[in-house]
Amino acid sequence: MTRSDEPDRADLIRADDRTRRTGTTRRRFLLGGAVAGVGAAAAIGIDFALGRAGEAGPTDAAASAAPMNGDVTVPFHGVHQAGIDTDAQTHATFVGLDLRDGVDREALRRLMKVLSDDAARLTQGDPALADSEPELALAPARLTVTFGFGPRFVERANGAAPAWLHPLPAFAVDRLRPELSDGDLLLQVAADDPLTVAHAVRMLLKDARGFASVRWVQQGFRHAYGTHAPGTTMRNLFGQVDGTANPRPGTADFDAVVWAEGGGWLAGGTSLVIRRIRMDLEGWDRLDRSGREQSVGRFLANGAPLTGSHEDDEPDFSATTAIGFPVIPEFSHMRRARSDDPAERIFRRGYNYDVPLGPGAAAGEVSDSGLIFASFQADVDRQFTPLQRRLDELDLLNRWTVPIGSAVFAIPPGCEPGGYIGETLLV
Ligand code: HEM
Repeated sequence: MTRSDEPDRADLIRADDRTRRTGTTRRRFLLGGAVAGVGAAAAIGIDFALGRAGEAGPTDAAASAAPMNGDVTVPFHGVHQAGIDTDAQTHATFVGLDLRDGVDREALRRLMKVLSDDAARLTQGDPALADSEPELALAPARLTVTFGFGPRFVERANGAAPAWLHPLPAFAVDRLRPELSDGDLLLQVAADDPLTVAHAVRMLLKDARGFASVRWVQQGFRHAYGTHAPGTTMRNLFGQVDGTANPRPGTADFDAVVWAEGGGWLAGGTSLVIRRIRMDLEGWDRLDRSGREQSVGRFLANGAPLTGSHEDDEPDFSATTAIGFPVIPEFSHMRRARSDDPAERIFRRGYNYDVPLGPGAAAGEVSDSGLIFASFQADVDRQFTPLQRRLDELDLLNRWTVPIGSAVFAIPPGCEPGGYIGETLLV
């Protein structure tokens, strides 16, 4: 390059073309949304059914002998954004951005067009248009990019904000830090490969930097791909099976809990509450196994309720011990989090975090760990806040958990090819 160290546009397009063509010689497993969580076994079936088994070029013949999870893609386009009903990937990075002064509706439209284009390409295993490391885009590993809008984003877009789009009310358990809370624009980037996530985040942030600055970044993980059978509920760092009582994606129940209705710009979208909840593993270590199980109301071995033997058994809250105490304590997390009102339900899709201790760590502490609690629901005020209020009043788990960050975002619906995320708000 003679002019500068920035490649010119023609170079970029040529590079783009090259990497795209390289991409098409790779085995691709294009799974529809409904089967995206089924895993590589189903993908091989699709590959053979479509007669693509011999499609790989000579140079990658050896690599193509085994199905590669890295090749699996989740569709970017659709009625809803991906990354919500998608079987949760192993790694996720959540980024909260603050809009720069002067970024108006017109600029927001430009921003969302560029970011949507990046996401549409990267999630399908193609480099972004000005991708500086195009090779890092070639293994999407079920990459999804999900966008969310904070109150100020909607205000700058001159849109009508849903009534629930505001910071949560203050709770007694909260020890919130502003640098881990709120934000105008959310990126949720998730894949089964951390390198893929890092690359996608970097590309998106490079394109966003003229419009917004990073307020916070949270990185989380779940069980690695291949460690457990597909569909296994994750464990958190307390060792608990976490996610059992969730509505199941693909059911009418899930749709009713998660997707916003009505004719406004949010129809087909949802809301996301993210809470960074620190878990006191040192304190938890001092609790015996039975105490740990009582605090949630489920067995650690398999997540079954204390009145049952399988994870999916319905808890019996009326069962009592020989001396008349409830088998599932009334103040257990599960009892307190379960509402008698069927409207008060949420879909949890959180990630664990475990980061090096900061300089202010107390003596004896060995870890800074917890949960990036993330829940999707159609209406925060109606579904999430009553639950959080009950847990705030009383929940045995509160003794070992402290919320230190909190943010609420409106998650707009998906878009079709040629469209962009946010178009219903920004048209
Ligand atoms: C670090 C904090 C937390 C931990 C370690 C935790 C852990 C758990 C565990 C182990 C379960 C039982 C298994 C399951 O159904 O997933 C559970 C259930 C549940 N949790 Fe949490 N949780 C935390 C925070 C929260 C928060 C902040 C909320 C909402 C405000 C919440 C809402 C729920 C709900 C709705 C259920 C299902 C209750 C049911 O219907 O059985 N959790 N949680």
